Amino acid sequence: MPPPKPVLEQLLRAAAEVRQNAYAPYSGFQVGAAVLAGGQVYAACNVENSSFPLGVCAERNAVAMAVAAGAKRIDAVAVVGGGARPAAPCGGCRQVIAEFAPPQTPVLYATPKGPPVTTTIGALLPAAFGPEDLRAGQGEGSTGNPAARAPGTRRSAARARGSGTSDR
Ligand code: THU
Repeated sequence: MPPPKPVLEQLLRAAAEVRQNAYAPYSGFQVGAAVLAGGQVYAACNVENSSFPLGVCAERNAVAMAVAAGAKRIDAVAVVGGGARPAAPCGGCRQVIAEFAPPQTPVLYATPKGPPVTTTIGALLPAAFGPEDLRAGQGEGSTGNPAARAPGTRRSAARARGSGTSDR
């Protein structure tokens, strides 16, 4: 069940508000994003850098905030940015959202003034690569590197090396 409309509207308002803090002196393109996870709203803006490739999108910052607070599942995402037309999340952000959001998760995006486009992460990123692809690939030419294992299949690095010493 998608979150009720008032909750999604609240999420959009949070994205619009945090957009005002965007640090975008190079592109001039300000973005705010809000993630709903475990009933909480995590909002963040894009943060650019004078070393251009180091800039981070609003959505990725918002997802990081939710995860840092302990969330493992995202229930909805709202993005506010663009001028003449709403800007959909970039490809990289779609992948980052999909890591924590099942395909039917609502994604709303809007300009600061206009009505939102409402879609889902599954529509924005069909046939997404995900943790299950890593799990399915394990054993098939895998290096066995424990650091590269999918969530839920982790072994202790020490045990994998056969040192007999647990690191947990
Ligand atoms: N940006 C976002 O914050 N989210 C997106 O999904 C697309 C782009 C930011 C990155 C950069 O700071 C600016 O918008 C222009 O690309």
